[in-house]
Amino acid sequence: MKYKKKILCIGAGYVGGPTMAVIADNCPQYKVTVSDINKEKIKMWNSDVLPIYEPGLLEVVKRARGRNLFFSTEIDKNIIDADIIFVSVNTPTKTFGEGAGKTADLQYWEKTARNILKVSKSNKIIIEKSTLPVRTAAAMERILNSKNNSIHFEVISNPEFLAEGTAISDLENPDRVLIGSKETKEGLQARDEIVEIYANWIPREKILTSNIWSSELSKLVVNAFLAQRISSINSISALCEKTEADITEVSKAVGTDSRVGSKFLNPSVGFGGSCFKKDILNLVYICENYGLYEVAEFWENVVKINDFQQNRFVVNMIKSMFNTISDKKIVLLGFAFKANTGDTRESPAISISKKLIEEQANIVISDPKAIDNAKIDLKDFADKILYIEDPYEACVDAHAICIITEWDLYKDLDYEKIYKKMVKPSFIFDGRNILDHKKLFKIGYNVYPIGKTALTHFK
Ligand SMILES: NC(=O)c1ccc[n+]([C@@H]2O[C@H](COP(=O)([O-])OP(=O)(O)OC[C@H]3O[C@@H](n4cnc5c(N)ncnc54)[C@H](O)[C@@H]3O)[C@@H](O)[C@H]2O)c1
Repeated sequence: MKYKKKILCIGAGYVGGPTMAVIADNCPQYKVTVSDINKEKIKMWNSDVLPIYEPGLLEVVKRARGRNLFFSTEIDKNIIDADIIFVSVNTPTKTFGEGAGKTADLQYWEKTARNILKVSKSNKIIIEKSTLPVRTAAAMERILNSKNNSIHFEVISNPEFLAEGTAISDLENPDRVLIGSKETKEGLQARDEIVEIYANWIPREKILTSNIWSSELSKLVVNAFLAQRISSINSISALCEKTEADITEVSKAVGTDSRVGSKFLNPSVGFGGSCFKKDILNLVYICENYGLYEVAEFWENVVKINDFQQNRFVVNMIKSMFNTISDKKIVLLGFAFKANTGDTRESPAISISKKLIEEQANIVISDPKAIDNAKIDLKDFADKILYIEDPYEACVDAHAICIITEWDLYKDLDYEKIYKKMVKPSFIFDGRNILDHKKLFKIGYNVYPIGKTALTHFK
């Protein structure tokens, strides 16, 4: 079959896989190949057991796979063939050297750029799909155009705004797509080629174009704003617990102000996921580099409040359970960083589990999709944790239940049945405020929501 253009995506993770599947599904005239150094992952993308869980993803993959969507480990061959290369490799926080703990580790990106340069035989558009520090494109372009030959690489920024758990609907119907380019003739031409791809299913007015630095920076800023809203409401939840104000009522009153808006105002055990913390710290590092210390400090506090909220959850638990949880069985319902994903990167469940283990509690972890990842995250504590997927079985003989992830299934459990098999007095710490607290109290539980007065049977 003759394709209009050949697209390659390097990096078959949470972004590369779903994004390319949706492009291929909507653009049968393009050949879309996704490559990764991880052979096992590619094997799974070619099977019916995909390497990530995302509602609706398997259906989209099945529609396009073998038609114009391909998963391959032959990176070099696919680079040679491609007209357009999306780079969607991971950009974790650097753990060593200058900027450790803050700036992005760009080694995977740079290795990819050098490999593209080494094997390419024709001009290509290179797209930054990964989230990168502002002005990375300049460095990449310098690397890509460092060989003295006639091949031209045009670097475009096209950050991804999808949220895990709703990736497919976010990609099918995004609030907007952002494409940043240089304002040169080649830059604008390359930009238009990428606009043309998205215009196959996204209304033109939702495809925003900008200069390349604005595009890179916007991605960091969106994540910083979203995380900031979570930390804002979480900081107020702590105050509610001291003052008998109710965070649900406050959140509603604040969120119905159209200037504020209602989204991202749910209190919780804190945000997780691979991006929020990493991207904010990246922003902090860039601000510090430019001498903007007050700006850096402002954003760093968003992360500090998130750590405070996770810590507070455990401290509150210890205090409520008579100042000791040593040898008590505590069940974590949920381990994923949010519902509808198996992803546990930076999940609050990780730090909460470690703190509970430090306090010598016996912990049981339950989750419908994330147990395999939890076992990897907590591999150093394997002998101190039980993993039981069935929540009813997990809660037998437990002193306390903690809701960590807002999975729908936890809203509908038979808590009366669970209560009968728990040690008394029984405790529930609802880290997501998803349960019917009054009903639980009537059953006999001592109930500790976030940002509300606890309902206890103690005098
Ligand atoms: N996960 C999200 O929700 C999300 C949303 C928006 C943006 N992002 C950004 O997108 C980027 C990718 O995130 P992700 O969650 O998909 O990461 P991921 O870890 O799930 O996937 C990255 C993939 O890149 C592969 N890889 C690394 N180096 C490679 C190389 N040299 N050649 C080929 N493959 C290579 C890895 O094996 C891995 O499979 C990050 O910059 C992230 O910040 C993520």
